[in-house]
Amino acid sequence: MGSLSAHNAPVRYYKTYRRKSCLLSLQTRRVSSILRVQTETDLSTRTIQEIDSIQPSSDEDTGYISAAASTSYQLLDPVEYGEHGAAFLSGNYYPVGQEVTACCDYDAQAGDDSSTMKINGKIPSDFPLGQYAYVGPNPKFAVDHYKRWGAGPGQVDFGLGSGWHHWFEGDGMIYAVDFCTGNRVKFRNRFIRTSSWKREIESGKRIFRPLMNADGGTFLANALSNLITGGMFMKDSANTALLHFAGRTFALQDTCPPWELDPDTLETISACTFDGKLPPYVPFTAHPKVLPSTGELIFFGFNPVSPPHCSVGTLKPDGTISSINSLWSIPFVGSIFMHDFCVTEHFTVLFEGSMDIKPVRQLLGKHPLQYNEDKRARFGVLNRDAQSTSVTWFNCSSSQMVYHFINSWEEKNERNEQLIVITGIREDGFFQEAMRANGSSEWIKEAVRVGKIPKVHEWRINLVTGKVTERYLFSIPLETPRINDAFVGRRNRYAYAGRVLLSELESTTQLKFDAVVKIDMQEQKTVTYEHGPNRYGMEAQFVGRPGGVDEDDGWLVMYVHDESYTATDVNGRTECVIIDAQDVEAGPVATILLPERVPYGAHCMWRADLKYPGATFEDTAVAFEALSANFQVNEPKMFAFEQSQRGELLEAVWKGLSRVALGLFVHGWSPRIARENVTEYAFVRGAGLRFLEVSKLGSHRLREAVKERADATPAPPTLTLYDVEDDDSCRLVREVLSICDVSYLCKPCPTASCSNSSELAILQGVELGSEVVPFLRDDRNDDIAVKGADGIIQYLYQEYLDGEEPASLVSLFQRFAQASKINDASHRRTSRAGEQPLIFWGYEASPFCALVRKALNERGISYVFRPCARGSPRRSLLLNRTGIFQVPYLEDPNTGISLFESVDIISYLKKTYD
Ligand SMILES: [Fe+2]
Repeated sequence: MGSLSAHNAPVRYYKTYRRKSCLLSLQTRRVSSILRVQTETDLSTRTIQEIDSIQPSSDEDTGYISAAASTSYQLLDPVEYGEHGAAFLSGNYYPVGQEVTACCDYDAQAGDDSSTMKINGKIPSDFPLGQYAYVGPNPKFAVDHYKRWGAGPGQVDFGLGSGWHHWFEGDGMIYAVDFCTGNRVKFRNRFIRTSSWKREIESGKRIFRPLMNADGGTFLANALSNLITGGMFMKDSANTALLHFAGRTFALQDTCPPWELDPDTLETISACTFDGKLPPYVPFTAHPKVLPSTGELIFFGFNPVSPPHCSVGTLKPDGTISSINSLWSIPFVGSIFMHDFCVTEHFTVLFEGSMDIKPVRQLLGKHPLQYNEDKRARFGVLNRDAQSTSVTWFNCSSSQMVYHFINSWEEKNERNEQLIVITGIREDGFFQEAMRANGSSEWIKEAVRVGKIPKVHEWRINLVTGKVTERYLFSIPLETPRINDAFVGRRNRYAYAGRVLLSELESTTQLKFDAVVKIDMQEQKTVTYEHGPNRYGMEAQFVGRPGGVDEDDGWLVMYVHDESYTATDVNGRTECVIIDAQDVEAGPVATILLPERVPYGAHCMWRADLKYPGATFEDTAVAFEALSANFQVNEPKMFAFEQSQRGELLEAVWKGLSRVALGLFVHGWSPRIARENVTEYAFVRGAGLRFLEVSKLGSHRLREAVKERADATPAPPTLTLYDVEDDDSCRLVREVLSICDVSYLCKPCPTASCSNSSELAILQGVELGSEVVPFLRDDRNDDIAVKGADGIIQYLYQEYLDGEEPASLVSLFQRFAQASKINDASHRRTSRAGEQPLIFWGYEASPFCALVRKALNERGISYVFRPCARGSPRRSLLLNRTGIFQVPYLEDPNTGISLFESVDIISYLKKTYD
C-alpha cells in the first residue's frame, strides 16, 4: 500500500470543443470519471472527492478526460465511507464492474500478444481437469453508493437510521478458472444475482441499508427499512463460499439459502430449497463438510433472528436431503454467531463462540452483534450414528471465537478414552473489532501489541471426562486455512493458510496475505512462500495429483494479486498461481495472467468433476459447430430481399434519404479515372480503366489502412460505441464513424434489461434505465470516454480526422442530436451471447445493412463494425478477402460462418442466437 497523501495524477482535458454547454460538459466529465474508476478499478488513483471536484476548465471543454496511469494506491476518504468502508472499497478491494470471459492455450506464454490470457512457467502435464473458483464481495454500484448511509445517490435518510458499508455486505462475484480439455484454460467472472441484487438493480441504486456496521441504535431501524423497501431484513448476497456437490454449483453465505449457479455458464439460477425440504428458517452454512468416507454432506444453519436458532442436516451423495433437525430455540434472546463447525467420522461438532447476536441490545443503543468476553466458548457434540438431536456440551477454557476450523478427527488417549481433536484459527473477536466502522486501526495496533491475533489452535475434547485441553500450535498470524479435502474428518498432517500482513492491518486495516504457509502439525513446523513485494495471495485450494497417495501430493491453486504491476493496468494484475504442495518454498510452477482483476475475497473451491470443465469450453464450440454444419450459406445476389422484408426495407430506404445519404461517403471522397487493377475495388471498370474513388483519411486511419493492406488482418478496434439503432443521435455518431472510416465495437443497448445496458449503467454510475447513449470509449487514447453525439463527433473529428472541422451536413444534423436515455422495451428480443463479437462489414447509408443492424440491435448482440463507405480502402480489403465486394457481410468467429445477404444473415442470427 502506497502513500495516503493526495494524489497528483495529471488530468488532461480535451480543449477543442467550442459549442457545448457547461452543464452537459460537467455531466459528461463526471460520467467519464466514474467510468475510469469503474473500469480501470485503478486502486483509487483518485478519490471520489477528486472526481467530484473536477470542474469545467473553460468553455472549450469537450466533456471527456483522460487521467494518466499511476502506481499510487489511495484509500477512499474514511470520513465519507467510514474507516472500514474506505479500506474495503479501495485498492484491490475496489470492485470490478465488468463480467469477462477469456481463454488461452497452455502454451500461450507471456509475451505472446495473441491472447489476453498468458501463462508463465508450465502447467504440469499431470495437472487434472477441473475448475478453481473463488468468491467474494464485489459491490455492483459505483462506490459513492456505499458512503455513509444517507450520503449516497438516491438515499434519503428520514432519520430511521444510518450506518457504514461493511465488506461482508457487498454483492457476490464468482471468479473461475477452468482447466479444460485440449490444454486450455478459461477465465470467467460473474455477479451472483440474488434477490437483493435484482431488487437493487431494478431500483437503480442501493436500497439495502447497512447492518453489520449500523450506528449504535439504528440496526433495528435499518433492518425494518430493508424489509419494507427490499422485502427482507438484510441482503441475501451469496458472497462467502462456493460448493459443488452432486453435479450442482452453489454460492453460499451464512444467513441465506444456497444460491444455485448454472455449472456451465455460472449464471445465477435461483435460491435452492432442495425440492422444498430446506425450510426458509434454516440458512445454509458457508462451510458445509463432505465426508470422504460416505460422500454425504453435513451442514448446519444458524438463524440469528427467529427460532429455531440452530439446525443440522445431511445431504445424500445424490444431493437430496436425508435429514434435517432443529436443535435449539431461545425466543427473544438471540443466538450465538456461528460461521464454521467440524465433523469427524461419527460426530458433528458445533461451536458456540463468544460472539452473539442479541436484538435486545438495541434497547441500550448497542449493536446486537458483540464479542462477549464474559461468555465462555463451548463445543456441542452430536453422535450421528445414534441419529440423536441431543447435544452434549464441552466448555472451553475462556471466551474465544473461531471463524475457521482446519479439521477434526477422533483419537483415543493412553487410557483408551475417546477424544475429538480439533484444529482451527482462534481469533477471539479480532475481526469483529478490526472491521468495525471507525476506530479499528487503533484497536488493531493494540491487539497486535498484546499478541491477540488469529493463530492456529488445538482443542482436545475428552468425551469421557468432559474436559477440553487447549494449546496454540503456532504463533504466526494466519487465516483461511485449508487441507486436502480427502482428509476431512480424518487425522491430517498438513494445512495451508494465508499469512496475515499485520503491518498492513495496522496502517490501513486492510486484510492481506503476504505469504502462503504450509503447516506440518506432525512435525510442528511450517514452510512459507512469500509472494513478493506488493503481491498478496488469496485462499489456497489443494488439488490432488491424479493417483497421488501422500496427503500433500498435489498442488496449491490460488489467486495472487500484484499491486505493483502497472504496465497496462494501473490497478495491478491478478494471476492464478499453481504451487507444488510438496515444494511450497520453490514458489509457482505456473502462473496464469488473468484478463481481469480479482478483488481480495473470501473462499474458493475445486471442482473435480471432469465432465464439466472439458465440456464447458468444448461444448460451447461443439454447439456452434453443429449450427454451422446445419446452416446453408447461399451464393450472394445483389439487392436481394424477401417480400416479408419489403416494409422494413422501404423504411430503411426512407431513413437513408431523410439523412441525405450521410455516411455514404468517406471524408474527402472524390472520383478519378485510373488504370485497371483487379485487386483494387472499383465501382465501374472497363477498357483497361477503372473508376477510382479516393478520400482523405486521417493520419491514424491512413497508417492502419496501410498495415491492413500489408497483412490483410484488421486490428481489433479501440473504439467501443454503446448504441441504440433507432436513436437519431446514435445514428449521427455511426454516420461520422463511417465518414472517418473508423472501425468500432458496437454494443447495442436495445432495452434497459439488456446486458450491454447494465454494463453501461455501471460504467456511467447511474440508475439502470438512466443510461445515456450514444456513449463512446477509446482505449487508444488513455481510455477516453465521451457521452452524447456532440462531444463524440468533436472528438472523432479531432482525433481521427486530424482536427478537421465537421462537414456542413454533420453540423446540420448535430443541432438536433441530443443524448438520449435508453428506453425499456421488454417486448423486444433477447439473445444468448456468443463468446466473441461478430464482425459486420457495411456502411451506414445502406438500407440492407440497416436491416442487419436492426436484427443485431434487437438481440443485443455485440459486433465489430468495419465501415465500407464509398472511398474506404476496406472495400478492396473485403474484395481480396471474399472475391467480391458486397455488403452487408457478416463473419461469426464463434461458428466460423461467413455470409452475405441481409436475408441470409438475419435468418442465420435467428437460428444461431434466438
Ligand atoms: Fe469463512
